[in-house]
Amino acid sequence: MTEGTGRRIAPEELRSHQWYGTDGLRSFSHRARTRQLGYLPEEHLGKPVIAILNTWSDINPCHVHLRDRAQAVKRGVWQAGGFPLEFPVSTLSETFQKPTPMLYRNMLAMETEELLRSYPVDGAVLLGGCDKSTPALLMGAATVDLPAVFVPAGPMLPGHWRNEVLGSGTDMWKYWDDKRAGLIGDCEMGELENGLARSPGHCMTMGTASTLTAAAEALGVTVPGASSIPAVDSGHDRMAARSGLRIVELVWQQLTLSRILTADAYEDAVATVLALGGSTNAVIHLIAMAGRSGVKLTLDDFDRIARTVPVLANLRPGGKYLMEDFHFAGGLPGFLARLTDVLHLDRPTVAHPTMREQLDGALVHDADVIRERDDPLAEEGGVAVLRGNLCPDGAVIKHIAAEPHLLRHTGPAVVFDDYQEMQRTINDPALDLTPDHVLVLRNAGPKGGPGMPEYGMLPIPDYLLKRGVRDMVRISDARMSGTSYGACVLHIAPESFVGGPLALVRTGDPITLDVEARRLHLDVTDEELEARRAAWTPPPARYGRGYGALYQDQITQADTGCDFTFLARSGDVPDPYAG
Ligand code: FES
Repeated sequence: MTEGTGRRIAPEELRSHQWYGTDGLRSFSHRARTRQLGYLPEEHLGKPVIAILNTWSDINPCHVHLRDRAQAVKRGVWQAGGFPLEFPVSTLSETFQKPTPMLYRNMLAMETEELLRSYPVDGAVLLGGCDKSTPALLMGAATVDLPAVFVPAGPMLPGHWRNEVLGSGTDMWKYWDDKRAGLIGDCEMGELENGLARSPGHCMTMGTASTLTAAAEALGVTVPGASSIPAVDSGHDRMAARSGLRIVELVWQQLTLSRILTADAYEDAVATVLALGGSTNAVIHLIAMAGRSGVKLTLDDFDRIARTVPVLANLRPGGKYLMEDFHFAGGLPGFLARLTDVLHLDRPTVAHPTMREQLDGALVHDADVIRERDDPLAEEGGVAVLRGNLCPDGAVIKHIAAEPHLLRHTGPAVVFDDYQEMQRTINDPALDLTPDHVLVLRNAGPKGGPGMPEYGMLPIPDYLLKRGVRDMVRISDARMSGTSYGACVLHIAPESFVGGPLALVRTGDPITLDVEARRLHLDVTDEELEARRAAWTPPPARYGRGYGALYQDQITQADTGCDFTFLARSGDVPDPYAG
């Protein structure tokens, strides 16, 4: 059993007791209203109140099964002697929400924090998985610091088309390029539309969703093996019920998130993400999550750890297989068992006193899906951190998903001032682009995007695609989908919108990328750059009012996690019940 404070608290020590169990008028009112909800006193009095935060929505195909999973969580909570209450919270759908759900990650984090604080909650089960929902829920819960268990939505089943297995996202980009190159037509695209996403669940490549849910499991906030179970597998229901069982015990033990989300846990999550060849988005989210846990995690930590772990997961977009293969090959427990020499094994998880016990008996059943240490896909972790006069505060590249000949490259820049200009002009033959050109997109960062949309995999021009060109060096202050690939330098900080050096690049300037040297350099003299800086004027603000204006005002840069300044800082918050 997981150790918390070392003792089991009494019902009178539950946080919810002050709402329900005292002699005053407020408690009387709360009990009366709980009866109004249809509950008997013996069903709820003296029991831990477990909030089930559910990101289910009709619009979100990655979470559409979570309405059922919440019932399984409730089953577990009731069986363990708790009192489950479901709370609908914002759904962040990577597919449908524009300009990008990243704009709303911090909003869900705020909603999570404020709901958990303001209601009579003793512990929480968090249901999410589509990209931003995992960090958002954990950022909010970590800030309140109650006991909590994360229930990952689970990957969808593998896609199929004719005799081919399809990865959502990754194969969408691939076949869309084939269509642009004239290799397939509308008939094939119609069939692909049916085959790309066959069931509820998040993207089943090692995209951002799979990366972040694996990170959550590595952090220790899920029950073992949770992150790779396919969304529609009966095991997913059982995992949800088990999470409900566990959270009640965690409340009695007072094993709060701060005991789990330690610096060691974040180091292990970084190692896991890098060894998975996971999404570059995880860099931003883990830095933000760590910040909410009082842990300082930096880009340099990613680069340091990347040099100590090989890539062992043979998963798309960098490899061959999909998440269901990973699950049957041993899932994350089997995968982590390959990394025990770099992990901190004596830290607690929500399910076991130590990660060592959590991994006890974990096996790998397919050494092509989860590689041996002496047979890696790459000798170093999948993300490199770049520095140089174009990115003084850093940039990242997923070099394992790029064509190797581009990892050391010098070429002339062709600059697009924003996404709309790029879309309008990229296929114009007058640009006369060659495979050596470096495509530069600016004003796509945290403030300029706004929200850092996933524009970072800039399209290869149609006329180059038709000549067989499938990768070029691309540079931006945007993010890239975890299912994307290519020699894309991302997250340039500071971004161009606030006057970062990206704002000063001109078409024709030579740019040098050298991944081995971790260098990104604009080959222009310092004097010339200073002259350009003196002539630069900031673009007008994108939002005049509303949440977008708040976002633009408060968002931090990519290297510090894109949290809001007023959420990232420390400070006192009054006890809500005393108010
Ligand atoms: Fe939800 Fe990919 S669209 S995880």
